[in-house]
Amino acid sequence: IYPIMHLTRYEEKMLDGEMGEGVQLAMKLLVNLGEMLDAPHLIPISSAHISGVSYKTGGKGLIETLRRFSRGGTRVAVKSTLNPCGLDLFHRVSFSADKEFVKRQMEIVELYEKMGVRTTLSCIPYKDENVPSFGVHISWAESNAVVYANSVLGARTNKEGSISALASAIVGATPYYGMHLLKNRLPKVEVRVDGEVSIWESQVLGAVVGERVGSAVVMFDFKPSFPKERLNRMGAALTAYGDAAMFHLRGITEESRRYGKRIEKEIEERIEVERRELREFTEKVSGDLEEASIFVVGCPHLSVDEMKEVAEEVKGKRVRRGKRFLLFTNRYHLKEAEKNGILKVLKDSSIEVYTDTCMVVSTLPDDAGIYVTDSLKAYFYLPKLSKKEAKAAPLMSIISSALE
Ligand code: F3S
Repeated sequence: IYPIMHLTRYEEKMLDGEMGEGVQLAMKLLVNLGEMLDAPHLIPISSAHISGVSYKTGGKGLIETLRRFSRGGTRVAVKSTLNPCGLDLFHRVSFSADKEFVKRQMEIVELYEKMGVRTTLSCIPYKDENVPSFGVHISWAESNAVVYANSVLGARTNKEGSISALASAIVGATPYYGMHLLKNRLPKVEVRVDGEVSIWESQVLGAVVGERVGSAVVMFDFKPSFPKERLNRMGAALTAYGDAAMFHLRGITEESRRYGKRIEKEIEERIEVERRELREFTEKVSGDLEEASIFVVGCPHLSVDEMKEVAEEVKGKRVRRGKRFLLFTNRYHLKEAEKNGILKVLKDSSIEVYTDTCMVVSTLPDDAGIYVTDSLKAYFYLPKLSKKEAKAAPLMSIISSALE
């Protein structure tokens, strides 16, 4: 028997169905979840980010669930953004998806839209249309976004599933437990690396440490050679290989900066990761890139700044004959890239730029061959979710292998 969660009068009305069937369903789900996890009450949220959009991963069950939630004109109560789907709806590109897939995918997106969810179809809401401030409670799904919001921004969210994030969006609140409480956000493990760490090395570190510590909150101690906005790559790898909802980077991420040593009292284990380990991991996942036929970048989606860096490297070069180079971003950053000429440079180099979807949740081109990505999260999921043979390597190695 679980303890009974305290509900406000208004929340009780939602639970009793006075605000409609969809709201009642959302409320029931949150109450069950909260009582199971010992949450004393719900906490109001300022935004939601919802995953579970691709027909590839959600299937018919997702459509059925969304139809039930949306019955009677249910609307979300807070700003809510949406993760990538299985197609590029903007450019009308469906890769190897058949007509049935396209139809069902469109219905999923329309159902979300009907409920008032912004169809951003992006996994980097924190870089444009949904940026939470420090300390606010939110209900986000999509693990890379959760880790970024908790760690870099200092907002508070559990690693929600697609349906619990949607339910919270409808109710405007989430069960108060887990990462919403400061005591669960304190680091238990310290991980040190000597010297400067590059973006690629930070991802490798995320993967190595994630495998080792699972869901524990880590206090990293290293000097990044890149701006903190790029820590999303490390967070994506950390949570793919482990299960963490957040990390700290000493003196850089928000809670470490604001609270200093006061949050470090519960560290129980100290790990030193040697550069040799990072090199060995890189060798293991990269191998001979000459064998590759499709190069994929943009997991998490690339921002306009990241596209600019790619454009600077590929300017005047072309993708080699027989190879393809796919880049994934969202519509917001695509427009920015178009405005300042970055998109033209990429296209002139025969790089294919897509929005709304990604290399993991789309059906991908049918072409046989080995995929190479600069993302360890994509490397982790490509064989599992897309049955593709994959390698991973730093962005610059990918560019030099893919372009003439
Ligand atoms: Fe985003 Fe797809 Fe990667 S949703 S984090 S690009 S797996």
